[in-house]
Amino acid sequence: MSDENIKLNTEPYKGVRDFFPEDMYIQEYIFNAMRSASLSFGYEKYDASILEPTDLYRAKTGDEIINEQTYSFKDRGDRDVTLRPEMTPTVARMVASRKRELPLPVRWYSIPNLFRYERPQKGRLREHFQLNVDIFGSDSVEAEIEVISVARKVLLNLGLKDSQFKVKISDRNVLNDFLVNKYSLDENALQKLQKLIDKKNKMDDFEEAANNIVGGKFSMDDIQTTPRLQEIIDRLSSLGAQIEFDPYIVRGFDYYTGTVFEFYDSGTDNPRAICGGGRFDDLLSLFGTEKLPTVGFGFGDVVARDILETYGLLPEYKNPADIEVCPVDASFFAVSSGFAEKLRAEGINVVVNYMTKNIVDKIKSADKRKVSNIIVIGEDEVASGKYKLKNLKTGIETIGDISIILDTLKK
Ligand code: HAM
Repeated sequence: MSDENIKLNTEPYKGVRDFFPEDMYIQEYIFNAMRSASLSFGYEKYDASILEPTDLYRAKTGDEIINEQTYSFKDRGDRDVTLRPEMTPTVARMVASRKRELPLPVRWYSIPNLFRYERPQKGRLREHFQLNVDIFGSDSVEAEIEVISVARKVLLNLGLKDSQFKVKISDRNVLNDFLVNKYSLDENALQKLQKLIDKKNKMDDFEEAANNIVGGKFSMDDIQTTPRLQEIIDRLSSLGAQIEFDPYIVRGFDYYTGTVFEFYDSGTDNPRAICGGGRFDDLLSLFGTEKLPTVGFGFGDVVARDILETYGLLPEYKNPADIEVCPVDASFFAVSSGFAEKLRAEGINVVVNYMTKNIVDKIKSADKRKVSNIIVIGEDEVASGKYKLKNLKTGIETIGDISIILDTLKK
């Protein structure tokens, strides 16, 4: 086939997104809400490469993710490489590498892009960005309360109310003790049952499968929280969060050692978790260092955007230019460019429309690109030094020299 006959598809790869400026605007809005929530609790930013040695995930990530959901390949040096499916092993590796120097507790956040070979569906894609907030070095309930408060603050920053989402929390040890004591399960049966409970929401025949494992009628009606878990629940409730004990929250990763939690939409539009996390006190021992009590969560951008849509909270797109300068024809390009430079020197974002279309088309185009203000520059403006600033949204016009134009734009 000759080159002229090649017609490539403009669609992105399956399950990943292109970010056009309108999408990027929303993405930045979400990232800002994530950043400012993390910074308000004093979390420091870190980052790493998307490439990791596959071994990093083999021990503790969990079979489902590693065997079925990673993008893994061999590099030219025959090394097994994986595109990171989550950030937790990476941040554990980084903290372990500096364990001696780092003053505890370490409070770190990041917004990495992650890759999972999942079936694309509402709220789940093959590439997503995920706020990760983790506190290393504290086994106190304060650590759980703090990270859950950060996740809650992201949602409040996005304009949600506490009544629009709920936190479901549990503790793997509470679940284990309950199951072992009530049903006298061996290690193998216990593991099977835990995996089943984790998948309950995706299953139609959960009851039957659970009954089979315990050899009778399975029920968790009589499970109780611990004083520690209750304290977390009470303290967060008193802050205004909707939080409840839910023993069906298990979470898929093998590294969680205690508290586990997930946030959900209170309504029915978004059935998948908004964010999820928990305590993983043993992960650092993978790197031959001592254990370090740690708790954190991941909060994805895909569900964040869905939630904004559901509650009518998407921000309205604004062009970054404060004003568009429209020369009436090509002979006014240079003078318009000089005018724009003067405004930029005062901190105003300016675009100059260098297309040779007529002025009505230029104004329409500025409006379509959501630029709020325009100035037309032609013979009269150059001769008088007076300009007419028009706000395309309100229709309000201001006439004056450049200092008046600047004052109006800065208001
Ligand atoms: P996770 O539950 O796998 O946890 O993901 C956390 C959040 O990331 C989910 O609640 C969801 O918002 C988002 N997310 C996950 N997978 C996808 C996907 N395929 N598409 C879109 N969004 C997705 C973890 O990853 C843990 N490493 C979090 C953590 C940090 N635990 C402790 N520290």
